[in-house]
Amino acid sequence: MGLHLGDEVPNFTAQTTAGEIDFYAYLGDAWGVLFSHPADFTPVCTTELGRTALLKEEFAKRNVKVLAVSVDPLDKHKEWMANINETQHCTVDFPIIADEDRKVAQLYDMIHPNASATFTVRSLFVIGPDKKLKLSITYPASTGRNFAEVLRVIDSLQLTAKYSLATPADWNRGQDLIVVPAVSTEEALVKFPKGVKVVKPYLRYTPEP
Ligand code: BEZ
Repeated sequence: MGLHLGDEVPNFTAQTTAGEIDFYAYLGDAWGVLFSHPADFTPVCTTELGRTALLKEEFAKRNVKVLAVSVDPLDKHKEWMANINETQHCTVDFPIIADEDRKVAQLYDMIHPNASATFTVRSLFVIGPDKKLKLSITYPASTGRNFAEVLRVIDSLQLTAKYSLATPADWNRGQDLIVVPAVSTEEALVKFPKGVKVVKPYLRYTPEP
């Protein structure tokens, strides 16, 4: 049974390229991104991990800790990391779990048997500081994820966690946000002094606070 939004995510300990990790301790009070890959020494995975390493500052700005997982062993991960650094012009310095016994893959339902009986699909989980699941996406092995979208969603999640606001379709940083239905227009005018544009009683926009 997979994880649902709002569920507390399961803790685990695992061997990683940065030593043994207790997941909750690794996250501390930060947000987390846990994401799986089908296998080491594969082209799409190489670009994804490289891209993640190059976005280190963006994840840090958002107080997000990243943790990758695949079912290959530690020595293979370490050899592959050198390849990623060389070909993607980066330094992978986030941990990669060696999930040989598929403990993490099973806990997080990352193996989809009709896609592959043995390898993890491209699952990605965004976890809040409360250890609750805020977002999950699943891509097939052949499609690399869009990490600009991952950052965009984290921006949306963090804004909505802080304010009673939501983000409209295709929203990007700097664009107007949506006042959630639970907040009346009177309350919104007090809460959001930059102004509230009422298009319909249920469709109200305000600039980013
Ligand atoms: C890849 O990462 O390139 C990949 C892995 C498994 C199947 C297809 C592509």
